[in-house]
Amino acid sequence: MGLFFLVSVLAAVLLSSHQQLFCAAGDRLAAGQSMSVNQTIVSAGQIFAFGFFTPENSTAANLHYAGIWYNNLPGRTVVWVANRENPLKDRAGVFAVIGDGNIAVLDGAGRTVWSTNLSGIPSNTSAVLLDSGNLVLRHDVDGGEVDVWQSFQHPTDTVLPGMKLRSNLSSGVGTRVTSWKGESDPFPGQFVMTLDPRNSLQLIFLKGSDMYARTIPWNGKPAITLQLSNLTSILVGTVVKEDDEILVTFNMLENSMIARFVLDYAGIWSFFSWVERQKNWVTLVSLPTRPCDFYSRCGPFGACAYAQSSCSCLDGFEPRSPEEWKRGNFTAGCVRQLQLQCDGTDRFVKVLGLRLPDGFSVMWNKSMQQCEAECSARCGCQGYAHAELSTLDARFLGSKCLIWLAEMEDLKQAPGTSEDFYVRLPASGLEGHTRLEDGVISNKNKRLIRIIIPILSFGMLLTGICCYFFIRRRKARVGKSRTRQSVRRQGSAGSEKEMPDVALFDFKSVKAATSNFCSENKLGQGGFGPVYKGRFLNGQDIAVKRLSKSSKQGYQEFHNEVRLIARLQHKNLVRLLGWCMHKSENILIYEYMPNKSLDNFIFDSTRLVELNWKKRFGIIKGIANGLLYLHEYSRMRVIHRDLKTSNILLDSEMNPKISDFGLARAFRTDQDIANTQRVVGTYGYMSPEYALNGVFSEKSDVFSFGVILLEIITGKKSTGFYPDSNSQGLFGYAWQMWEGGRGFELLDPSMLSSSSSATEVPICTQLAMLCIQEDAADRPTMSSVVFSLSNDVCTLPMPKKPAFVFERSPNSVLSAAHDSASKASINGLTATSVQGR
Ligand SMILES: *[C@@H]1O[C@H](CO)[C@@H](O)[C@H](O)[C@H]1NC(C)=O
Ligand SMILES: *[C@@H]1O[C@H](CO)[C@@H](O)[C@H](O)[C@H]1NC(C)=O
Ligand SMILES: *[C@@H]1O[C@H](CO)[C@@H](O)[C@H](O)[C@H]1NC(C)=O
Ligand SMILES: *[C@@H]1O[C@H](CO)[C@@H](O)[C@H](O)[C@H]1NC(C)=O
Ligand SMILES: *[C@@H]1O[C@H](CO)[C@@H](O)[C@H](O)[C@H]1NC(C)=O
Ligand SMILES: *[C@@H]1O[C@H](CO)[C@@H](O)[C@H](O)[C@H]1NC(C)=O
Ligand SMILES: *[C@@H]1O[C@H](CO)[C@@H](O)[C@H](O)[C@H]1NC(C)=O
Ligand SMILES: *[C@@H]1O[C@H](CO)[C@@H](O)[C@H](O)[C@H]1NC(C)=O
Repeated sequence: MGLFFLVSVLAAVLLSSHQQLFCAAGDRLAAGQSMSVNQTIVSAGQIFAFGFFTPENSTAANLHYAGIWYNNLPGRTVVWVANRENPLKDRAGVFAVIGDGNIAVLDGAGRTVWSTNLSGIPSNTSAVLLDSGNLVLRHDVDGGEVDVWQSFQHPTDTVLPGMKLRSNLSSGVGTRVTSWKGESDPFPGQFVMTLDPRNSLQLIFLKGSDMYARTIPWNGKPAITLQLSNLTSILVGTVVKEDDEILVTFNMLENSMIARFVLDYAGIWSFFSWVERQKNWVTLVSLPTRPCDFYSRCGPFGACAYAQSSCSCLDGFEPRSPEEWKRGNFTAGCVRQLQLQCDGTDRFVKVLGLRLPDGFSVMWNKSMQQCEAECSARCGCQGYAHAELSTLDARFLGSKCLIWLAEMEDLKQAPGTSEDFYVRLPASGLEGHTRLEDGVISNKNKRLIRIIIPILSFGMLLTGICCYFFIRRRKARVGKSRTRQSVRRQGSAGSEKEMPDVALFDFKSVKAATSNFCSENKLGQGGFGPVYKGRFLNGQDIAVKRLSKSSKQGYQEFHNEVRLIARLQHKNLVRLLGWCMHKSENILIYEYMPNKSLDNFIFDSTRLVELNWKKRFGIIKGIANGLLYLHEYSRMRVIHRDLKTSNILLDSEMNPKISDFGLARAFRTDQDIANTQRVVGTYGYMSPEYALNGVFSEKSDVFSFGVILLEIITGKKSTGFYPDSNSQGLFGYAWQMWEGGRGFELLDPSMLSSSSSATEVPICTQLAMLCIQEDAADRPTMSSVVFSLSNDVCTLPMPKKPAFVFERSPNSVLSAAHDSASKASINGLTATSVQGR
């Protein structure tokens, strides 16, 4: 046997070095074939290549590793390495399918430096490189092929789409992904990612034997999608329980998308996507990157708040070492203020808004009551969590019961991805701690509660980090745009008085186009007067806004108006084609929008159905972009002041265009808020500071945007929606649903079957809640809104209760806006005059 082995190896070496005929060809090496250091095989679709490589910047120049990389991408992104521990030291070695059917890397002397080392396999196998990047050892059986070994089952530092991470529920043995030792050294490093051997329900990250991060436990959902910057989902993660195994895998929805997860030599787990335009890999998410990402940063029973990277104790608990705690050393965590009684009087208190802590044991097929009983029966049990899995996926008959027999570790505030759990507290400690029931964490510093959600999911193996970039980019962008604007202001000072380059139309032609402003052509009534549909002789459709003579807009104001609008050019702003003045007539001519305004759709139950979520999300993004342009990128900073659904027009492709700049105000770039004697705008969309005090800023528009967002999601009017008698209107309703984790139910019923809304709807809802916050300073800027809308993995701060919800203001304007008694009369009312300037 030994002799045979040696002979076949030698034969392989000799054959490979002397005869191209027997060497690597196409996507496979057949039995007895080998491949030398300068040869490669390429998968059938030319996607992956397998061969020898020397890592870039490797200190030892002549080390050769057999590995797999992307065939068509520049550079060499290695996704798998065979002989990572034993590189060839010179060019004399080969990779071969050796005599016993195994594949091996052999050095110049024919010694095995790496081998699949399987026993009892057929000898006529071939090594085939698949387009998925999987190198398989395959042999033919009657009418088919069997893979006796796959590189996908022995990953190095990279997880590719389609690769299955496994964990044996009974033995805990599972796939391990091991980092490289250094940037250019494939030798196994100290970092390992694997399914948690204790429960198989979460991914854990180990440095040596110490856990430094983990994902949230599997919540039973079989598939989780991730959506990015486009309307399409890009990735679907799947978790399957098969008998005594858990299998985790992910796939790209768009086959052409190139993406991978890597545990790098520094222990950072990242999701990369290839961006062809940039000819580069882009990191979409990474873990761990922020202090709270690290395992149990706040110790047992201590919860980490992302925003401040600070710790607080669960209610009913206090710092174990108060002195250390005050100095910012949280490692000791928290301890119970009162001991458990274990005499049947202990109670369980629900905790909301936290990721499931670590330290649990799993029990399958327990009802909620049984799960609680299991915990009650053990004096050391600290709490439990229960999830009915059969409602999530028919494949799971039964449910998941987690009980904490040890301390609860690694608590993080994460409302978006949280699962409820119950903490056991002694009955005597209950009265003082009812706040826990509201999901509020006890802490001395209330501001801790405004936190950022880490989007961390076991299924996706992902975590959101973009908030970091989000803040950085925003700062950078705001800084940049300010500078640019001030430069431009100086540069254009001389041209400030020029008339805009929009056409001046002849009154006669406008009159002809609208059949002498015939009432049949009237489209509606804008803030300043009637709007007519018209058609020029050349066939172009137009919308003509005739300013009412009673609007008291003088020549100067009209001119300013025209100049302001003409200078604003953005695909999400309605385009002014021209203007016309004739005697006392002031007329503006706009492009015609065949689909009229947004309110025609969302407040009409039959037409609402036409707006699927994809269209709605497109409209939301369009409005946000138009508004961002007004606030930040237009030549002047412009505040619209009268945003509402009836001012959002829709073109033939349902692209939204903001219209009606009648109340808009241009700002000096150094001026942040303005005050006005006369409050104009539309009730229901007006921010409280504007309605009450006449103070307006960009944040007033952000407020109106939030209202529009809610209306688009719910299909309900901001005024006049009262689901029950003691309701507080749309804002209150939305807040209650959102706060109760039922944000999804806000979606109007016509959309329930819509598929692509799994992450966008919650993000839009949360954004809406952020935009309608009472304090203008708490509301996001449009640039952060736009950023969040285009980056679904982004993390958002927690909103406060919206304006107009819980306090009834004595002010008549405000109570009119949300008082059910006067709702009908106030509905849709638009103030129609501006204050004198
Ligand atoms: C591979 O390398 C060997 C030795 O360095 C050389 O003789 C041979 O021509 C090379 N083959 C190819 C295909 O480049
Ligand atoms: C190799 O070194 C160059 C220059 O220092 C650097 O730009 C490049 O990123 C390095 N490549 C790798 C894979 O480390
Ligand atoms: C191959 O496997 C056997 C046991 O199955 C083990 O004793 C041997 O060390 C292995 N060889 C290599 C090169 O891994
Ligand atoms: C490989 O060997 C098996 C049994 O040893 C045989 O049935 C099969 O036909 C062989 N396949 C090839 C391609 O030689
Ligand atoms: C899981 O581990 C158990 C015990 O070690 C073993 O009997 C079983 O075959 C394993 N299951 C799989 C699918 O490997
Ligand atoms: C969005 O996706 C479509 C196809 O799904 C693609 O053609 C388009 O380029 C993408 N847009 C961006 C901005 O990535
Ligand atoms: C933090 O506190 C623990 C005990 O609570 C102590 O052992 C440890 O040395 C402290 N670490 C630092 C850096 O002070
Ligand atoms: C739970 O019970 C059902 C019915 O007895 C069974 O089919 C299912 O496999 C069980 N699930 C688990 C995880 O044990």
